[in-house]
Amino acid sequence: MKILVAGGAGFIGSHTVVELIGAGHEPVIMDNLYNASREVLSRIRTITGREVPFYQTDIRDREGMEAVFQAEKPEAVIHFAGLKAVGESVRRPWEYYDNNITGTLTLVDVMRKNGCKNIIFSSSATVYGDPAFVPITEDCPKGQCTNPYGWTKSMLEQVLGDIQAADPEWNVILLRYFNPIGAHASGLMGESPNGIPNNLMPYVTQVAVGKRDRLHVFGDNYDTPDGTGVRDYIHVVDLAKGHVCALKKLAPGSGLSIYNLGTGHGYSVLDIVKNFEEATGVSVPYVIDPRREGDIATCYCSAEKAERELGWKAQFGIREMCEDSWRWQKNNPDGYESAT
Ligand code: NAD
Ligand code: WQD
Repeated sequence: MKILVAGGAGFIGSHTVVELIGAGHEPVIMDNLYNASREVLSRIRTITGREVPFYQTDIRDREGMEAVFQAEKPEAVIHFAGLKAVGESVRRPWEYYDNNITGTLTLVDVMRKNGCKNIIFSSSATVYGDPAFVPITEDCPKGQCTNPYGWTKSMLEQVLGDIQAADPEWNVILLRYFNPIGAHASGLMGESPNGIPNNLMPYVTQVAVGKRDRLHVFGDNYDTPDGTGVRDYIHVVDLAKGHVCALKKLAPGSGLSIYNLGTGHGYSVLDIVKNFEEATGVSVPYVIDPRREGDIATCYCSAEKAERELGWKAQFGIREMCEDSWRWQKNNPDGYESAT
């Protein structure tokens, strides 16, 4: 199937492109490169032996996207394109609503005008807010988001659901990712954050590689076994495979579906430090800092619905997640910038 991968040069998108090729699909990447590097295209070529068509296009650029749809005629879109930095979204809400919401509305309009009504959307566990219960199932009520980024995801779920309800020709899958970490096992692709990493694993690997002194653990007085925050970390390659499985579900008449993509296991911040040290033999010094505003104690999912309906289950454990994150960081200390 010809699939347009919006945001396909990013962390999750690039790994998904590799898995799509492995499964016999024809991905086309569209990305404005705001948070990605062209270098990823050559890494994809090295891993897959394939040259993937690439368009440097913004999802708010109607004419640019029209040209991509006319040239490529995709059957489905996997939509990763968005801004995702939680703290930045608090400081620059307009930019987040414009990029994520205006961008998605424009993308969806261009899709329907071109007769393409199949979309898989990157949503997030953040839509559950402080979850009403764990493990979180898909029917757990959505919660109050603590930042504009989270609201863009929650609102876009509503938008896409309403569009599908009004026009049953649309097939919409909302994938709620938990905490993606890890990297491609080749060490050629991974997460390449700009500046100080917001997320735990890139911070851990930057401490391990000597770019930062120590990890700041945000709070050790949560109601969790060791007092630090518990999350459902998932290997990015497992997450990428989840999209390949979801594509099979995008059949005519499939309507709207929602799936959690996680492992169903919770690990604390200190569990991650310990597992990382054991898997890599590299020590990660840390200090305990105050809690980070907006953080919750515990978040992990039940991924049973995805297993039952998509035939998808995460294969990699925490050890592989740590090993692969480390291989990527070690081989590319400055991310894709190391290669340019
Ligand atoms: P990423 O920043 O690496 O990838 C997003 C890509 O979209 C980037 O390559 C960026 O350049 C591109 N992009 C952004 N705005 C665009 C626009 N207006 N037009 C075209 N391209 C644009 O992020 P990621 O971690 O790969 O996340 C992918 C998606 O999954 C995002 O929508 C994110 O919100 C969502 N998500 C991520 C996580 C996570 O922890 N990484 C968790 C849940 C959901
Ligand atoms: C994990 C744990 C922190 C960094 C965020 C977004 C969410 C989703 C995934 C996109 C927490 C602790 C972290 C550090 C730390 N993204 N931590 N020191 O907060 O679960 O989710 O990314 O949708 O929307 O909010 O992930 O990796 O930031 O934090 O102690 O330097 O690690 O407090 O307990 P989070 P994270």
